[in-house]
Amino acid sequence: MIQFPEKIQVPVINHLTNEKYFLIPAKALEITPERIAEVVAICQQPDIYNNLFKEEFSNAPYSPKHARYWLERAQQGWNEGTHYVFCIVTKDNRLAASCELEGNRVEGVEIGYWASIEHSGIMSNAVLAILKLAKEAGFRSFMASALHHNLQSKSVLARCGFVEEPMKRDDSYDYFSLS
Ligand SMILES: CC(C)(COP(=O)(O)OP(=O)(O)OC[C@H]1O[C@@H](n2cnc3c(N)ncnc32)[C@H](O)[C@@H]1OP(=O)(O)O)[C@@H](O)C(=O)NCCC(=O)NCCS
Repeated sequence: MIQFPEKIQVPVINHLTNEKYFLIPAKALEITPERIAEVVAICQQPDIYNNLFKEEFSNAPYSPKHARYWLERAQQGWNEGTHYVFCIVTKDNRLAASCELEGNRVEGVEIGYWASIEHSGIMSNAVLAILKLAKEAGFRSFMASALHHNLQSKSVLARCGFVEEPMKRDDSYDYFSLS
C-alpha cells in the first residue's frame, strides 16, 4: 500500500546555480491558462520534445490540449493513487521540472522526467528527493529507460544510483533499475 504524506513541499537545490526550488505533488498546481502555457513552452523545448513526444505525436506540436490533459491526468493519479507526478517549482512558483512515478506497483515502478533547459542542474537532486519520498511511501524498487543517445538522462540515473541492465537493451532504449 502506497502512502505519501498529505502535504509535500521539499526544498531541492539546483547543483549548478545553488538556487532553492520546491518539490511538490502535481495535484497542488492549479490548472490555469498561465500554467498550461508554461507546460507547453517547456515541452516544446527541442530536447524534451524530441526525446519524449515527437514520435508519439507524429511530429505534431505539443499543444495546450496536451498540457491540460497532462495536468488533469496528474491530479487524477494523486486522487486515485494510480500514479504520482511531482513538479519542481521555483521560489516564485514557476514550473521548472517534473518527474513521474508511472504506476503504483511497489516493485519495479517506472520513473520518467523532464527539466526545462532554463533550470538545468535541478533534475538529479529532484529525483534523489523523490526516490527518498517514494521509499518512505512504500515503493521498494524502480525502473527507468533512456534512448541510447540520451546521455544527460543516463547521467541523472547514474547519479541517483540506477544500474544498467545490459540484457534488456533493445534497438532504441537502454534500461536501468534501482533496488
Ligand atoms: C535529462 C534532463 C532531465 C536533465 O536535466 P538537468 O537538470 O539538466 O540534469 P542534472 O541534474 O544532471 O544537471 C545537469 C548538470 O548538473 C550537474 N549536476 C547536477 N546534479 C548533480 C549532483 N548531484 N552531483 C554532481 N553533479 C550534478 C552535472 O554536471 C550535470 O551535467 P552532466 O550530466 O552533463 O555532467 C533534461 O536534459 C531533459 O529534460 N531532457 C529531455 C527530456 C528527457 O530526456 N527526459 C528523460 C527521458 S528518459
